[in-house]
Amino acid sequence: MSISYFILGCWLLNEVSAYQDRSCKPTSADILGPYYYPNVPRRRQICERDRAFHQQRHLLVEGRVMDETCRPLSGARIEVWQADADGHYLFKDMCRGHFYTQIRGNYAFLTLRPGKYSTDPTGRLFRPAHIHFRVVAPDHDILVTQMYFDGDSSLGVNDSCSTCSSDHPDLVVSTHEMCADESGKYCIDIAHFDLVLRRGSGVDVVKDVDDSLPELLDMAKEGK
Ligand SMILES: *[C@@H]1O[C@H](CO)[C@@H](O)[C@H](O)[C@H]1NC(C)=O
Ligand SMILES: [Fe+2]
Repeated sequence: MSISYFILGCWLLNEVSAYQDRSCKPTSADILGPYYYPNVPRRRQICERDRAFHQQRHLLVEGRVMDETCRPLSGARIEVWQADADGHYLFKDMCRGHFYTQIRGNYAFLTLRPGKYSTDPTGRLFRPAHIHFRVVAPDHDILVTQMYFDGDSSLGVNDSCSTCSSDHPDLVVSTHEMCADESGKYCIDIAHFDLVLRRGSGVDVVKDVDDSLPELLDMAKEGK
């Protein structure tokens, strides 16, 4: 056996044992909501046609897709959709896209922080700002979930969607800012959001309770 095979063997053994005792908890599911639309373009930058895209600070969302043993899942298809900066959902290709995870399960996309909207008939409560995710990988169940932002006053008991999962800490991210220089003029916000899929036969893991009527009425009102 040549030395390079020996080194490769040691490396593989190391990689395998590094994964062996690890376990990652499957990401909490959330409702799909009425704004899901399946055939969205492949791209890593969404909302760029929103007026606010060139005025507001951009948000870079990055993370990894993993299985329950924390192994990265490459080639997983991720669909994302969100409200625009004013809290409205738009069909066509606004604020929507899909892409695939890379070799180490990594993904990243550029967007805007979504606006808040209400699904409360009295308009008192709002949905916290959120981005919807649907993640599909072979031999795993399909994860439908939403990502929320730390410090949002509409999380949990204040969410106008009482059946949504904004009270699940694994769905709430904190953002940090990164600036190109000291001027503070060229900064983006970065959010890290890992997604863990459950092994399975490809069924949708979605917390699907029909809480969508107010959202549909909002959509009809906006004429979208
Ligand atoms: C819910 O809203 C109330 C009133 O605005 C606020 O005091 C409270 O901290 C909020 N709760 C959460 C979990 O954000
Ligand atoms: Fe939504």
